[in-house]
Amino acid sequence: MKNVLMIVGSLRKRSFNRQLAGEVEALMAGRASVSYLDWTDLPLLNQDIENPVPEAVARVRAEVQSCDGVWICSPEYNFNVPGGEKNLLDWLSRPQDPTDPASPSTAKGKVVAISGAGGRAATAGVRGKLNELLGFMGMEIIGETGFGVALTPEAWGSDVLSLTDEQRVELGKLVDAFLGAIEE
Ligand SMILES: Cc1cc2nc3c(=O)[nH]c(=O)nc-3n(C[C@H](O)[C@H](O)[C@H](O)COP(=O)(O)O)c2cc1C
Repeated sequence: MKNVLMIVGSLRKRSFNRQLAGEVEALMAGRASVSYLDWTDLPLLNQDIENPVPEAVARVRAEVQSCDGVWICSPEYNFNVPGGEKNLLDWLSRPQDPTDPASPSTAKGKVVAISGAGGRAATAGVRGKLNELLGFMGMEIIGETGFGVALTPEAWGSDVLSLTDEQRVELGKLVDAFLGAIEE
């Protein structure tokens, strides 16, 4: 079975984006094995500490390297990528061999899908930015700006994400396209 690595761009315990990742995982059940990337101990990117590669960076890179595809569930902060998540992506964009600037990054060529849960615009801002950023990093994006959910007043009030049947069908289509791409 193929391995999917989930990147949730929120550290919040009851994160809507973590719940969205759970929906994706449920849709992949029996078709892929899903694990979650723990990026909480990554240092802030500083070129002075790239060599030797910090332990947390090496671990995160190894997890990304060994998966068949990455699925991102991203919050939208000020129409953009949250800082912690951007820091993670920047680490993944750097040459794997710190002594060879021409060596490929961990991210290059990886299959990736974008999704997000947020306010009225359904994270269109951050998904557009991620599409641009991940494309620049040489990742193989499935479904361009992916799938977004606009949280309802009930969701904001309860901290519980629930998808409509239509949303689940739409998300299912992206899941199918993503799994199709990593099967190739
Ligand atoms: C600094 C900051 C900026 C935010 N900016 C936006 C925004 O531009 N668009 C949006 O839809 N929500 C915005 N929000 C609200 C988030 O959608 C909300 O906090 C959401 O719960 C984050 O996702 P999470 O539940 O997975 O942590 C912002 C929240 C924070 C903390």
